[in-house]
Amino acid sequence: MTAETEINRPQLVDGMGRTIVNLRISVTDRCNFRCTYCMPADNVEFMDRVKLLTFEELTRIATIVSKLGINRLRLTGGEPLMRKDLPSLIRMLAAVEGIDDIAMTTNAFFLKEHAQSLKDAGLKRLNVSLDALDSEKFKHVNRRDCLQQVLDGLQEASRVGFKSIKINAVAMRNFSESEILSLIDMGRSDGFEVRFIEFMPLDSDQAWERDKVLFGHEIVDLIKEKHELIPIDNSLDIGPASEYRFADGKGKIGIITAVSNPFCDHCNRIRMTADGKLRTCLFSTDETDLKQLVRSGASDEDIAEALKQAVLIKEPGHKINLESFERPTRAMHAIGG
Ligand code: GTP
Ligand code: 5AD
Ligand code: SF4
Repeated sequence: MTAETEINRPQLVDGMGRTIVNLRISVTDRCNFRCTYCMPADNVEFMDRVKLLTFEELTRIATIVSKLGINRLRLTGGEPLMRKDLPSLIRMLAAVEGIDDIAMTTNAFFLKEHAQSLKDAGLKRLNVSLDALDSEKFKHVNRRDCLQQVLDGLQEASRVGFKSIKINAVAMRNFSESEILSLIDMGRSDGFEVRFIEFMPLDSDQAWERDKVLFGHEIVDLIKEKHELIPIDNSLDIGPASEYRFADGKGKIGIITAVSNPFCDHCNRIRMTADGKLRTCLFSTDETDLKQLVRSGASDEDIAEALKQAVLIKEPGHKINLESFERPTRAMHAIGG
């Protein structure tokens, strides 16, 4: 952890007193998968490439936010490895003073080829999306027939020695039940923390319904039929997951109850889309156009001020469980997950 100095004292504090230390940067909205809970099957309209922030622009923003107290970055997509030469960006971000941790969320399809260069560039942690170990189910949910390629990517990532590899499985009723124990078995034997994420209304197909969510408590009950679980007190390491360790000492799991028990009260993160729009919540309906500021000659101070103002009015939480819930106009692949 960087020592707290005048330079990186936390300055991004919102109206509820939540301090923002974590920026998720989407580097592209493109993806080689078409997961049902995220993208449509076809006819996706992607961002024009000239709209994407360049590596230099991203590094400038990372430098500005690090001076405001952000020390953790996560690269997201679409699929971040669809962006050419990602290790160069990671190298540039890793050199920014005050950035202690760079992580990435990926579908692992390209990992076999790139794991080593990502690690060498300074990427510390990987979260891999993997919803099913049955190849037919994989094909159904991801709309691609490439389970083995993903598993090979995971093994390569493990071989090159990332500090942490987690597996994210979106939990959907009448789909995930049969996959939970096999994902856990793999996680326990290969050293991955498996996390189950309640399906959220962010799918382009707009097929989300509450009945399609497999809830966290149901997942825990299902796991308890086979394994004894001990809750982990992770109050010091605020993240979206409630974690449990296995009583036999072999590994741990996480449950992200994004719908039934959201972690919004402790949220310490903001997001930037690939076209440079700052979103203070996954479910924001408003954005702050950082790209416009960057490309119109704004000073670092102006950009820092825009960030502070946006954070000040960060949404208290999402409204999935309320009548007044409004879906964001962007789907998950264009927000970044
Ligand atoms: P670490 O704690 O550093 O591992 O990161 P993370 O858990 O935030 O990373 P990851 O990208 O794997 O997030 C897991 C999933 O949790 C995401 O894909 C989302 O589905 C969900 N999630 C992450 N951040 C938020 C958030 O701010 N709000 C909500 N509702 N869900 C989130
Ligand atoms: N609900 C919950 N999680 C989702 N993800 C994508 N779409 C959804 C959704 N509708 C998660 C995937 C992936 C990350 C990018 O976002 O698990 O890990
Ligand atoms: Fe691609 Fe990730 Fe969306 Fe799946 S969840 S379609 S891998 S961006």
